[in-house]
Amino acid sequence: MRVYVSELKNFVGQEVELKGWVYNSRSSGKIKFLLLRDGTGLCQCVFFKGECDPEAFEVFGQVSQECSVRIKGVVREEPRSPGGVELGAQSLEILAPSVDYPIGPKEHGVDFLMNHRHLWLRSKRQHAVMRIRAELVSAIRDFFDGRGFTLTDAPIFTPSACEGTSTLFETTYFDEKAYLSQSGQLYMEATAAALGKVYCFGPTFRAEKSKTRRHLIEFWMVEPEVAFADLYDNMELAEQFVEYIVQRTLKNRPEELAALERNTEALEKVKAPFPRLHYKEATDIILKENPEFVVGGDFGGTDETIISSKFDRPVFVHHFPSAIKAFYMKEDPQESGSSMSCDLLATEGYGEIIGGGQREESLEVLVRKIREHNLRIEDFEWYLDLRRYGSFPHSGFGLGLERTVAWVCGLSHVRETIPFPRLYGRNYP
Ligand code: 4AD
Ligand code: MG
Repeated sequence: MRVYVSELKNFVGQEVELKGWVYNSRSSGKIKFLLLRDGTGLCQCVFFKGECDPEAFEVFGQVSQECSVRIKGVVREEPRSPGGVELGAQSLEILAPSVDYPIGPKEHGVDFLMNHRHLWLRSKRQHAVMRIRAELVSAIRDFFDGRGFTLTDAPIFTPSACEGTSTLFETTYFDEKAYLSQSGQLYMEATAAALGKVYCFGPTFRAEKSKTRRHLIEFWMVEPEVAFADLYDNMELAEQFVEYIVQRTLKNRPEELAALERNTEALEKVKAPFPRLHYKEATDIILKENPEFVVGGDFGGTDETIISSKFDRPVFVHHFPSAIKAFYMKEDPQESGSSMSCDLLATEGYGEIIGGGQREESLEVLVRKIREHNLRIEDFEWYLDLRRYGSFPHSGFGLGLERTVAWVCGLSHVRETIPFPRLYGRNYP
C-alpha cells in the first residue's frame, strides 16, 4: 500500500510503499541508510544485506541527493527516528535521477540560494517556513469567516493609487493606463457599505526601489473593513485578530517553530489587549534614544525597534500626523492635524505589521484631500459615491502576511517568507 511518511506511525508492522526524494544516504558495510523526503516528512529507510532484495543493495550505489525513488518495506518502531518509526526496507527503485544537485549540506551564499529558490524550497527550514505561512493563512481566513465577515476580494488592475503615487506599478489596460493594486482598501469600503463586515486577502504590489529586510515588491495583505466602526473598535479587532493567528500557530505548528529554533516566549505573551501609544507618546520614547528623530515624521526601522523594545507585546501607535498619511485617513475632529490612524508594531523589533484606521466620511473633506494629494478626482468618482449615498463611519486595516510570517518564524528578512519572493532587482525564478 502506498502511504505518506506522515502516516507511517499508523502502519507499524505492515508492509508499505513510499515515494519521494532522497534527502541523503550513507552506507557502512552491511547496512545502508537512506533518508527519504516525500513532502509530508522525513523517513529513515534501513537496508540490511541479506534482509532486503539483493538488487536493492546494488541500486543503492546509484542513488544521489534528490533523485526520486520508490521504496517498499516494513514499518517498525524506532524511538530515535523522526516520528518514532523507520522503514525496514526491502526494495528500492530509482524513478528519475538527480545529477549534481546544486544545494549541498555546505553553506551557500544568499544570492546563490535565491537563484535556486525553486530547489531551496526542498530543504527542512523552508518546509517549516512554508507550513507556518500556510497555517497563518488558514488562521486568518478562519478568524474572519468565523466572525461574520464576507470575503470580497478586490481587483488587481486598478485605475488609481491608494497608497501614494511613488510606489505605483504602471501597466497598460488595452488602450488605457492601469496600475497594479497597492491595497484593496478602497474597494473594501464599497463592499463594507454592501455587506457590513468584509475582507479581502490577496497579492498587492509596491514599486519600492529599496533593498530592505521588510519590503517585498509583491506581498500578500489581508484587509478587513467594518461599517460603523471607529478607530478604537478597529484596534480592538486588530488585537483580537493578531492574538488568534499567533496563538493558533503556536498550538498547531510547534514542530516547525522548533525546527526554526524560534524562541516562542515572546509569542506566547501575544494576548489582547495590546498597549496603545499616541504618536506624541511614541515620539517621546524615540527621542530619548534617537535624538535625530524629527517629530512629525514617519518612523524608521530603528525607531520602531526602540518602541517595541519597551513592551512585551505588540504595540499600537495611533494618531500619526495627517501630513504623513494617505488621503483617505480621517482627521481627528478633536485634534487638528492628527489622523485617526493606527499602526501595530510587532514584538522584538520586527516592525510594523498592520497599518489602518478610520476613513474620512465627509464628501467635501475627501474632495479637498484628493486635490491636495495631487490625485485625479475623476479616478475617484466611484469612491466619492460612497460618501454621496449614505456615508457612514467606517474603519479597517491591512496586515502584511510576509512581515507576520517573518515575525512568527523569527526570520531577519522577508525574502524567505513567500515561496517565490519578488524583491527590488529580483524577478527570478
Ligand atoms: O500600512 P500600509 O501601506 O496600509 C495600507 O495599505 C492600507 N490601505 C491597509 C488598510 O487599511 N486596508 O500596508 C499595510 C501593511 C503594512 O503594515 C505591512 O505589514 C505590509 O502591509 N506592507 C508590506 N509588506 C511587505 N513589503 C512591502 N513593501 C509592504 N508594504 C506594506
Ligand atoms: Mg503603513
